[in-house]
Amino acid sequence: MRAPQKGTALMEKRTDWYEHPEYYEAIFGTDTVREVDFLQALSARHGTGGSKWLEPACGAGRLVEEATRRGLKVTGYDISEAMLAHARKRLTPAERRRVKLSPSRMEEFFVPELEGQVDVAHNLVSTFRYLDSEAAALAHLKGTRRLLKPDGVYVLGFHLTDYARTTPEHERWLGKVGKDKVVCNTHEGTPERRARRSPMRNRLRITGPGKDWLIETTWFFRTYDGAQARKLFRDAGLHVVAEYNFDYDLEAPEKRGSRRLDRVFVLKPVSGSASTAARPEAPAEAATPAKKRASVKKTAAKKPARKGR
Ligand SMILES: C[S@@+](CC[C@H](N)C(=O)[O-])C[C@H]1O[C@@H](n2cnc3c(N)ncnc32)[C@H](O)[C@@H]1O
Repeated sequence: MRAPQKGTALMEKRTDWYEHPEYYEAIFGTDTVREVDFLQALSARHGTGGSKWLEPACGAGRLVEEATRRGLKVTGYDISEAMLAHARKRLTPAERRRVKLSPSRMEEFFVPELEGQVDVAHNLVSTFRYLDSEAAALAHLKGTRRLLKPDGVYVLGFHLTDYARTTPEHERWLGKVGKDKVVCNTHEGTPERRARRSPMRNRLRITGPGKDWLIETTWFFRTYDGAQARKLFRDAGLHVVAEYNFDYDLEAPEKRGSRRLDRVFVLKPVSGSASTAARPEAPAEAATPAKKRASVKKTAAKKPARKGR
């Protein structure tokens, strides 16, 4: 092997971009203000407009921070301690008093004090697709529904799957952290219709003074076409009050029959279903054991037409 030239670093390989929140956010933190604007506008139009927000899988807390700055009372949780630590660090002491962050899984999160209290729950960037079975997805949706006010909304953004797609999809994004340059490449392989999943791969290449890192993360995302998503929502006692896309434009809702795959569903508890919330739902039986899941988790998606994460 040739010795590296003076001033260059040997490439170092790492896995799991959620262990490196600063680089994750260099790529995916750029839409934060627009996303919170959109969520507030959605809540005013379709929900209560109230101040109690919940962010399942809140990650490194970019949306938690922005919502808190706007005076909202935020509860967030995430499976990753590294992401939660980053989220806590970014808040001022005064902000921390209005925010509750805890480690938890989407399949299991439940806090009795929040039952029937939440104005807006949101999960915008395909994170929902980490839930790798119908049972896990259902447990998450039912659990979140129990926490919503009768007029509260769960805003769920993710890419629907075109099962006829026969070629992989690729996206490339650029970002900067101080003097470090970040190049992000995400691949979504062809969907496996029967297994209801797509293989995903993300590569973050970070180069800067004395640094050359390749962070490669692989996982599977669960797949949904429109009918599969709507059936799941119905089964969870949620109905779709509106649909948008990742342009986050309140004046441009998606029409029935639209072929766009990037979707933001605005979900509300079916009336009467909130009362079923009085007793805890069993956690998803079919959910993958924690250890195995840890290697399969990661990422979500985003705009414009798509930004897969
Ligand atoms: C793409 S990030 C989104 C973070 C944040 N919502 C945002 O928009 O920046 C996905 C997050 O989901 C978390 N995650 C993945 N599977 C999870 C699960 N089953 N329960 C809770 N969090 C999970 C990851 O740790 C990661 O922080």
